[in-house]
Amino acid sequence: MGEMIKVIGVIGGGQMGSGIAQLGIVHGFHVYLLDNDPAALGKALHLISSSIQRLVSKGNLSQAERDEAMRRLRCTSSLDELRSCDFVVEAIVESEDVKKKLFSDLDGILKAPAILASNTSSISITRLASATRRPGQVVGMHFMNPPPVMKLVEIIRGADTSDETFSATKALAERFRKTVICSNDYSGFIVNRILMPMINEAFYTLYTGVATKEDIDTGMKLGTNHPMGPLELADFIGLDVCLSIMRVLQDGLGDAKYAPCPLLVQYVDAGRLGRKRGIGVYDYR
Ligand code: CAA
Ligand code: NAD
Repeated sequence: MGEMIKVIGVIGGGQMGSGIAQLGIVHGFHVYLLDNDPAALGKALHLISSSIQRLVSKGNLSQAERDEAMRRLRCTSSLDELRSCDFVVEAIVESEDVKKKLFSDLDGILKAPAILASNTSSISITRLASATRRPGQVVGMHFMNPPPVMKLVEIIRGADTSDETFSATKALAERFRKTVICSNDYSGFIVNRILMPMINEAFYTLYTGVATKEDIDTGMKLGTNHPMGPLELADFIGLDVCLSIMRVLQDGLGDAKYAPCPLLVQYVDAGRLGRKRGIGVYDYR
């Protein structure tokens, strides 16, 4: 099945979806990129185009290859246009209900052998699969932000994910030149099970007045060689995404240690969602 994938659908043209679509077209696939917000699609197209142009200026891609790649991209707001896709990966909002509704709609539209993947950071693949009549063909394909740069893809097997679906997804990630790790289906999987409590703890460190945001970030950047401090990284990921992940960990693992820090909750309530909104822990305006 891996070699049979030629047309990919990417749903959600935000920071993750636009990066995944870019990977698809650069590696020779036809990609339909869907978002229900036309402004998000316009932004995604601009981001992909300028990011690929950078590859040309660095000598990693010829101008002709760039033009070919851009011709393989089609932006749309209509789910029906995804009928011909062999593989669809969703990167919409981190909400179980919204993702289930999308999976149920897609199940009715896609051809029988098509695979349905979720880029969810934390939500149960088994439960998303239960919204479809093809649970064997549902899988977690978790890219890291920014997808064109980060070397990892975490693949999550739901309770019913078939070996064929797993192998096809792994082969696709390898076509994107990513290293694959495999996780069983527990809240947060591997990466966010470990990363998000650290980010949440950084919020508690700030909230309880242990140190300034700058010192917390510098401490972790220079003290543990992380490319970004945890608060800067939270802004980069999106504070809404961080909060959703903490809530999934809290609900799914049932331990009080996963309770989201009140400061994180308050920032999200205030619309301080991080870099994408121009303000989060830091002010980027
Ligand atoms: N798309 C494409 N390319 C990008 C990019 C993007 N969005 N952002 C940066 N790049 C490229 C740049 O073009 C540049 O390429 P060259 O070196 O070839 O010129 C390279 O990445 C480095 O970029 P910069 O020089 O602008 O900046 P930097 O050196 O500070 O690196 C970074 C930026 C790669 C984001 C780095 O700061 C980093 O690694 N940060 C941590 C990222 C991280 O931890 N991500 C995982 C988050 S957790 C997650 O994703 C899971 C989840 O579910 C929440
Ligand atoms: P984002 O807010 O940047 O983008 C989400 C996009 O989805 C928006 O453009 C929105 O208009 C669109 N959308 C929402 N509902 C939709 C629907 N029903 N149909 C079509 N489009 C819809 O979010 P993001 O940061 O790209 O995250 C997307 C997903 O990827 C989430 O599940 C998140 O947990 C996961 N993820 C995020 C990161 C990260 O660092 N931000 C990393 C890995 C995985």
